[in-house]
Amino acid sequence: MPNHSATSLSQAACSVLLEPSVEGKISLTQEIAEQWSNGSIADIGSALPPNRPARPARPELLPPRDMPKRNARGDKGRIALIHAIAHIELNAIDLAWDIIARFTAYDLPRNFYADWIGVAVDEARHFGLLANYLSYHGAAYGDFPAHDGLWEAAEDTYHDLLARLAIVPMVLEARGLDTTPPTITKLRDVGDNHAADILATIADEEIAHVAAGVRWFNYICEQQEKEPTETYQALFKKHFKGQLKPPFATAAREQAGFSADYYQPIAAG
Ligand SMILES: [Fe+2]
Ligand SMILES: [Fe+2]
Repeated sequence: MPNHSATSLSQAACSVLLEPSVEGKISLTQEIAEQWSNGSIADIGSALPPNRPARPARPELLPPRDMPKRNARGDKGRIALIHAIAHIELNAIDLAWDIIARFTAYDLPRNFYADWIGVAVDEARHFGLLANYLSYHGAAYGDFPAHDGLWEAAEDTYHDLLARLAIVPMVLEARGLDTTPPTITKLRDVGDNHAADILATIADEEIAHVAAGVRWFNYICEQQEKEPTETYQALFKKHFKGQLKPPFATAAREQAGFSADYYQPIAAG
């Protein structure tokens, strides 16, 4: 297993981004979190994260338009669905370390870093749950192509932490709060309680990730004397290419401190 010799948190974060294997990213994530909590990594430091994180040779990454259509019915369709979610979780591990490494010039409180380390640990565990499902069904991460749209959001917000928070936790992860419960219902309807239980755990834990996004977004808005809801809406229009589609999981969003004042004015339809 890889280990890192970083002396600062931002360097340690880069070691995850530069590690190509999934197992390596997961073990480094756990190791760094442990070293942060026992104090052997204490400095935030500064580092230059790579433009793109290293990734395993498989899955093949395709532009979203070239992805094969997924048939959601049948065992194979469910395995492909869980594979697609595992790919999202792997991106989420890298995104958590990227936000730690990239914005050190903002002089943020230590709790900012503690929050995203916690997110990285959660995402690594989520990946592990999904990988177990795949292996139980004779499959593995890498067996299907995956789409490469997810890192685009990161690339587009390299220079602006408010934009990163607006797009990643407050659009993409919040979207997961909306879409996961109906997927869980469909999985239960076809009797796949194993997949449904995993997604229920993930859906529950993702609320805290959206909450961290909203909390730090509001914190930085206050420091920059910006009005949070209008700032969110302007950043959404500037950086997000798609539409913000209802229905919204209003209660879960509310639980994350994400009230409709932010997103209702820019909702599609
Ligand atoms: Fe996750
Ligand atoms: Fe998350």
